[in-house]
Amino acid sequence: MEKTSFKEGTIANKFDAYNDILEQILGFRFVFQTFISNPNIKNILDYGCGPGKVAYRLAQSTNLNIFAVDESKEMLDIASGKRTHPEVDYHLIQNDRLSFLKDNSVDGAMACYVFINTGSKDRIQRIMKEIYRVLKPDSPFVILDTNPDSTGIEFSTFRNGIPGKKYTYGEARQEWLHIQNQEDLILHDFHWPKSMYQELLKEVGFREIEQIEPTLRDIPDEELKIIEQKHEFNQWKNEWDYPPFVIYRSIKPTQE
Ligand SMILES: C[S@@+](CC[C@H](N)C(=O)[O-])C[C@H]1O[C@@H](n2cnc3c(N)ncnc32)[C@H](O)[C@@H]1O
Repeated sequence: MEKTSFKEGTIANKFDAYNDILEQILGFRFVFQTFISNPNIKNILDYGCGPGKVAYRLAQSTNLNIFAVDESKEMLDIASGKRTHPEVDYHLIQNDRLSFLKDNSVDGAMACYVFINTGSKDRIQRIMKEIYRVLKPDSPFVILDTNPDSTGIEFSTFRNGIPGKKYTYGEARQEWLHIQNQEDLILHDFHWPKSMYQELLKEVGFREIEQIEPTLRDIPDEELKIIEQKHEFNQWKNEWDYPPFVIYRSIKPTQE
């Protein structure tokens, strides 16, 4: 099965229309914490930025300068049409190369929902190596993806994989994103176990790898109430008991 092409305008627009509230609460929140908690971080690479929602939100809530890159011109057109910000620089990249960035030049990096969309382990490794190259020593790299162990579970806003089906290493797997007043957007992803991320991060040279899998039980009640009011959303389902996402935090070590 072919992977989803985010280079198709209809898919890019539909992805943009998806309400990523669950991703914000149980995903991006934990990614952002890594960067916000470190006063030495002044700039961030957002690899596979899509329509720019993540970079834009991070820029709005911090003073960080963000290099937001994607291989899809259609996604970047949406990003620069709807989410321009003086601290966000959008770049179209090709062949997984960050040619405009020097070695050891970036203070932090994130890749959100990029590797589940990548069908080859070698390619994932190549992207990680390129991110490693541009990161300064002692800087964090954070990956956020859907949780392979929550395949088949119906969450409020999406379902990843067919219930009851056991997916094999790297197998094509569909994901259904529920979009209000529209048919689901069906993405063609790949099933990568958590061990694959750990193994590749280590091989590339990242250290201090930490894996977190939050559920709604990890979010303070008060904070959840504020989010529900802000987004007019409280139809939570299995996200109380199952982690929809997994976050891998790692560090590019200081060279010996
Ligand atoms: C599922 S979207 C996620 C977008 C954004 N990170 C978010 O969380 O909203 C995945 C994005 O990664 C981009 N992408 C996938 N593989 C890529 C690669 N090898 N190089 C650059 N961008 C890539 C796609 O074009 C798409 O825009």
